[in-house]
Amino acid sequence: MGITIGLCAATLAACGEGPPRAEPVRLGGEEISAERIERGRFAYGRYCRRCHGPTGRGDGPHGVGLPARPRDLTTGVYPQATGGHGERLPSDAELASLIRRGVPERGMPAFDLDAVEIDALVQYSKFLSARWRIPPRRASP
Ligand code: HEC
Repeated sequence: MGITIGLCAATLAACGEGPPRAEPVRLGGEEISAERIERGRFAYGRYCRRCHGPTGRGDGPHGVGLPARPRDLTTGVYPQATGGHGERLPSDAELASLIRRGVPERGMPAFDLDAVEIDALVQYSKFLSARWRIPPRRASP
């Protein structure tokens, strides 16, 4: 406990706003460190919140007047990333490539960021939806 609190205090700038979350979390069955989530929270505040809103509901001020309303990320439905209608959750690689290329025809810009930052944004996007807290049913290989 002392260690995790120390980690967040040492990187307070990276903790973004809101109460710092100093616990790892399981998303889609995988344990994600508090550090990745907090890095993502900070990057989300910088790059995404203006459209997707403070809690991911798609209600940010810059979302107005785009070809599509920014996605409500709390629903955990990703038609662009999966090429489907929400029945399956995307892989981290699919979400990363979605963030890199954006959805230009619907109003989301591309993000040319390094791999660590893209990963943090992938994890934080998942963190915003309760759907990832339920272990996914994976198709058997
Ligand atoms: C200029 C506004 C804007 C910004 C900034 C923005 N988005 Fe989006 N986002 C959108 C719009 C518009 C859509 C498309 C909604 C639709 O097609 O229904 C979208 C869709 C998405 C989707 C759903 C993709 C899918 O599979 O359907 C995700 C995930 C996403 N954005 C994450 C992010 C992340 C992470 C960032 C920050 C790095 C970000 N967005 C920044 C406007 C924005």
